[in-house]
Amino acid sequence: MQRKDLWYKDAIIYTLDVETFYDSNGDGIGDFKGLTERLPYIAGLGVTVIWLLPFYTTPNKDNGYDISDYYQVDPRLGTLGDFVEFTHQATEYGIRVIVDLVINHTSIDHPWFKQAISDPDSKFYDYYVWSDKKPKNINEGMVFPGVQDSIWTYEKKVDAWYLHRFYEHQPDLNMMNPDVVEEVRRIMGFWLKLGVSGFRIDAAPFVIEMLGIEHEGSTEKANYKYIQQMRSFLSWRRGDAVMLAEANIEMDKVGDYVGDGDKLQMLFHFMLNQNLFLALAKESAEPLVTGLKAPPKVPDTVQWVNFLRVHDELDLGRLGKKDQQFVFDKFAPDEDMIVYDRGIRRRLGPMLENDRPRIELANSLLLTLPGTPIIRYGDEIGMGDDLSLPERNSVRTPMQWSNEKNGGFSTAPRRKLARPVIYKGEYGYKKVNVEDQQRDEGSLLNWFEKAIRVRRKCPEFGYGTWKLLETGDDRVLAHRCDWEEKSVIAVHNLSSESVKIRLKSEEGRNETWLDLIGDHQYEIVDGDPKQVALDGYGYRWFRVKPMEEVE
Ligand code: GLC
Ligand code: CA
Repeated sequence: MQRKDLWYKDAIIYTLDVETFYDSNGDGIGDFKGLTERLPYIAGLGVTVIWLLPFYTTPNKDNGYDISDYYQVDPRLGTLGDFVEFTHQATEYGIRVIVDLVINHTSIDHPWFKQAISDPDSKFYDYYVWSDKKPKNINEGMVFPGVQDSIWTYEKKVDAWYLHRFYEHQPDLNMMNPDVVEEVRRIMGFWLKLGVSGFRIDAAPFVIEMLGIEHEGSTEKANYKYIQQMRSFLSWRRGDAVMLAEANIEMDKVGDYVGDGDKLQMLFHFMLNQNLFLALAKESAEPLVTGLKAPPKVPDTVQWVNFLRVHDELDLGRLGKKDQQFVFDKFAPDEDMIVYDRGIRRRLGPMLENDRPRIELANSLLLTLPGTPIIRYGDEIGMGDDLSLPERNSVRTPMQWSNEKNGGFSTAPRRKLARPVIYKGEYGYKKVNVEDQQRDEGSLLNWFEKAIRVRRKCPEFGYGTWKLLETGDDRVLAHRCDWEEKSVIAVHNLSSESVKIRLKSEEGRNETWLDLIGDHQYEIVDGDPKQVALDGYGYRWFRVKPMEEVE
């Protein structure tokens, strides 16, 4: 296998929602034409993959995760033609596109569901999961506690209850029904033909669970074989396509999801994500070590995907209660900042009090922790949130392009916008926008462009095998990634105090380290490059060089 066969291993992913990115025709709603216009900007950042949130036809009660037609672009966002034009042009910029595959459920507006309830004898009835009697414990296992009351809802027309792990308007599909499996294949096949490089598998654990589904002779709770079937279909249709699973699972289940390289290629690293925020809150590197060491060894073709924030809440459900509370106290001091009893509905900037050194530190970790990083649109300029919006919409406000009306997102009157732009205060578009940051050499945006450029020259972070380097200081994380006889090292000081450490590394005897990037340029201490000084929240990345080469 050649390096580029595993393109996703040194990818840098940018995620965005078409609806809130850029509006090309002034109707207040972002669209594919607008996104295509902004491709040069995205390419300029240096990212290599765009992950699009759902853009399919939808009543839009869950940010597009409630689909009523899998084969259409939502008319508010454009046409299939616009989609193809976008993927084509993205490819010209060397950017791949992956899309959300939302197959755990449809919208209640989907024709399958409508037919199921208007004619329970039709084949569509079995597309969903039903119970003739009121199931027990219908108020347990909700994904959105506090907003969602139950996971089964009574449907008068058919005198039965349907399963919905998420909102009531999102009935779960019955993935044990071969007809549904066939429909999913068709959907995947369709978007692959239109040029996508893969899928983010929404709600993966629920896609394969068996709750409410009769199945003979098995006591298993999940249909893991299905993942393998999806993977082989995917690979037959397009050999280099990937699946990235949204699966916030226990670490002992990881093997079931990745198999021996014949299942999912990528998993969101929820465990590291939560521990990363704990590390930032505690100003200690220890939780990062815990997060890094948590997963079992996975096959070489499998990749962990790191992220700081996405379009959902920052879910802290996998931390112990005490640790969870610690992060809440630091980063979500008001009750209104917490949602579903487990997560924070804020953007990174406000959580870190718009403190540039800490924002850089967090993003430097994102770019160097072993795996593939995902950057959420707007985080590259330090956008804020709007807590007056319900649930997770707080972190889904339109992109801030300039200090013009509506932050340059749209020329429509403000009341017509898909979602309000942040216009007031520290994070308002007059203070935080792309245009200003492009002009300002010291801006966060320019930092990002530079850091991404350096990261792309260090495939070791994505491909390599990693190990921790002894620092003798709990506040500091130092890790090294080796790949094809080349190595890079990153050192991060989680605390506000300046530190000086001497790194020990066995291989270190005949090698020296050259600075790649850091929070600023540091002097070499006592002529010894392995004595690493770091300011509070400081970080440095190094390339390892054999001694001879340097002299
Ligand atoms: C996933 C998505 C989330 C959505 C849910 C239901 O968790 O990330 O935004 O609400 O699935 O589709
Ligand atoms: Ca528009």
